[in-house]
Amino acid sequence: MAHKELQYQSGFGNEFATEAVPGALPQGQNAPQKSPLGLYTEQLSGTAFTAPRAVNRRTWTYRIRPSVTHKPFSEIPSGLLRSGPFTELPTPPNQMRWNPLPMPDQPTDFIDGIVTMGGSGDPALQIGVGIHLYAANVPMRDRFFYNADGEMLIVPQERALRIHTELGILAVAPGEICVIPRGIKIRVDLDGPARGYICENYGLSFRLPDLGPIGANGLANPRDFLAPVAAWEDREGDFRIIGKFLGRLWQAEIGHSPLDVVAWHGNYTPCKYDLARYNCINSVSFDHPDPSIYSVITSPSAIPGTANVDFVIFPPRWLVAEHTFRPPWFHRNMMNEFMGLVFGAYDAKAEGFLPGGASLHNCMSGHGPDAETWERASHAELKPVRLDNTLAFMFETGLPVRPTKFALETKILQHEYFECWQGLKKHFHPPQPEKP
Ligand SMILES: [Fe+2]
Repeated sequence: MAHKELQYQSGFGNEFATEAVPGALPQGQNAPQKSPLGLYTEQLSGTAFTAPRAVNRRTWTYRIRPSVTHKPFSEIPSGLLRSGPFTELPTPPNQMRWNPLPMPDQPTDFIDGIVTMGGSGDPALQIGVGIHLYAANVPMRDRFFYNADGEMLIVPQERALRIHTELGILAVAPGEICVIPRGIKIRVDLDGPARGYICENYGLSFRLPDLGPIGANGLANPRDFLAPVAAWEDREGDFRIIGKFLGRLWQAEIGHSPLDVVAWHGNYTPCKYDLARYNCINSVSFDHPDPSIYSVITSPSAIPGTANVDFVIFPPRWLVAEHTFRPPWFHRNMMNEFMGLVFGAYDAKAEGFLPGGASLHNCMSGHGPDAETWERASHAELKPVRLDNTLAFMFETGLPVRPTKFALETKILQHEYFECWQGLKKHFHPPQPEKP
């Protein structure tokens, strides 16, 4: 794949404007009788027309052909891709952990490489999530993909992706994330075996969390989100467009690349974000804050303060809390926690949680540091410590994550995971009654 330097526009949900050919973007109106350069005008709406202004998202595109120019869709096999409602097998309340997904031994592109681990809700109801891993080794060349069921938060773990979208190109490396909005067509380019995680958000689109008393700045700052600039393809051939709609994959013939937008303006766009830019806020006195302090972006639900899904990271940072057990504490939670590890080690697990691996702790299932971590942290000297070489993350969901049949039966499931807590010994020593 070509590695020319890409350009981006800075900001989260801004009113961007970009043209790949000078003069392609109409000025002063959205839909002139004749658009410049013989382009077609098409609006892409990511919210209802009547959504409140602060959350209304739409983009006007000026393209070589309108999106409707394709043959009828017919269903194709979904491989290991699954969608809500997730009813393949009963969901046990067990803590679960998986080894990394092996790289494919056959040519596998990004779409064929998606394996669903679980999820919640239902895309038809626009609530819940699908949680997927991907492992791919060849680029998508003559096929394109869009997802009508949800936006896709992609977390590369091994090797960068170059994602050609209708609105331009994003290069996304491990340590970065991107969000592809519902409906935006993509073609994913890669130059070798690539692996990572996908949170398919059926609910309200991801946004920056409110900061409350933190103030006007902090956590993920808006200017660090990058949207693409317009980049068009004028390719014709025997191509396929694949749509994910109501949990199934549908394929249609298309005689040209649908990534043919020459100019666009609007605020409904893909974006990327470098997690190293995250302004991590933490305790400088005592105690480990709730992990919500590490939220990057959030999809709200209808219940105030309860996310459909939060994306939370545990990046390199200083630990300075005094007289404190510094790793995450033991807990049980109303929310549901699917975790992944991009690189390094996670500070609550001394071993077994591998880069590319995953864990799931569902509603009210106890979890916390393993026995080795508890022992070490309980006796550690509490000088300032820099946690380096670590990037774990969590998709924290309001609804329990129901694992797929694959996730429950795969060889990469660690059946011995429970053993990491079995070494936690009894230390209770009540005061002995005084002898008379
Ligand atoms: Fe937890």
